[in-house]
Amino acid sequence: MSSSFFSGLDLLATPVILVDDELRIAHANPAAEDLFAFSLKNVLGQPLVQLFIDAGEVIAGLNDALGHNWSYAGRELTLTRPGQASLHLNCLITPTETSAARFLIEFRPMDQQLKLAREQRQMDQQQANRELIRNLAHEIRNPLGGLRGSAQLLERELERPELREYTQVIIKEADRLQALMDRLLTPHRPPQVAPLNIHEVLERVRSLVLAEFPDGIRIERDYDASLPDLYGDKEQLIQAVLNIVRNAAQALNGKGVIEFRTRAARQVTLAKQRYKLALELQVVDNGPGIPEELRERIFYPLVSGRDGGSGLGLTLSQTFVQYHHGTIECDSRPGRTCFTIMLPLE
Ligand SMILES: Nc1ncnc2c1ncn2[C@@H]1O[C@H](COP(=O)(O)OP(=O)(O)OP(=O)(O)O)[C@@H](O)[C@H]1O
Ligand SMILES: [Mg+2]
Repeated sequence: MSSSFFSGLDLLATPVILVDDELRIAHANPAAEDLFAFSLKNVLGQPLVQLFIDAGEVIAGLNDALGHNWSYAGRELTLTRPGQASLHLNCLITPTETSAARFLIEFRPMDQQLKLAREQRQMDQQQANRELIRNLAHEIRNPLGGLRGSAQLLERELERPELREYTQVIIKEADRLQALMDRLLTPHRPPQVAPLNIHEVLERVRSLVLAEFPDGIRIERDYDASLPDLYGDKEQLIQAVLNIVRNAAQALNGKGVIEFRTRAARQVTLAKQRYKLALELQVVDNGPGIPEELRERIFYPLVSGRDGGSGLGLTLSQTFVQYHHGTIECDSRPGRTCFTIMLPLE
């Protein structure tokens, strides 16, 4: 009984320590071993108080919980193992139902909470931006049709043909805006999912990009062939990856190396959801890197550092990846730019 209880805890990504009535370590899961840099073997049976040089608050919480047999939540604690950097954590102490231990202590590193809060804020912000832009695009599209139509009518009535130059400017610019609005408005199709292999997607992107940039760009592949199929919308995923790889090829200015790398990732949190297994896909290029002033904003619509760029490529990639409950991140410095897409495999 107790061993299956323990092995259940061992699967958790949350660091957990169990203590007995005397506040000695009864168990610690691998996440706790990682976090506190000890091995269960060495600490089993030791008083919790000896593990840290500043366990006072946790011990007080435990005594409180012990006295009343209730839960205790400690916020913004500092815990320090001898000779190591201090950790800032929240903890939750709960009485257990098993005979194997008296209390279960869950730890939540604050950095992680700050990161989650930041990600959430970014997601909300992006969602709001997207809606604003869609509404705006919608509002611009209608009068645009009227403008273009009127310019055409006017053109027919013009008696001096040299004036057509002006109506042509109106018509061409209206068309250009129209095309931009269409791109802003398209991607709201829910994905049509079917089992697919990520490497089919990558091979497709590879041949498209090599056809577009026939000289000077090399695409290297480092695939984990044992990756299982994922459920996804092939067209959307091709588009998502293509936009990233095309950017890389453009940044390389026709000369350089792009690497595709796939791996399995275990126990990951994507958009607040926990997955046992996910796919990690990286696109790495050895180009000049993303200009520093753009780095924070490249996923926003209409942000571009390229002449003639509309700044929608990465917005679309992100939208499609989010449709698949995945995440997309970028890390860039001169000589190495890496886009990482994570997609759940369940
Ligand atoms: N691998 C990369 N290396 C250097 N800069 C990059 C890279 N990927 C993206 N960028 C920068 O990020 C900007 C935004 O990219 P995004 O694909 O969203 O728009 P775009 O390429 O400018 O236009 P679009 O893709 O809509 O034609 C690019 O203009 C470029 O400045
Ligand atoms: Mg682009």
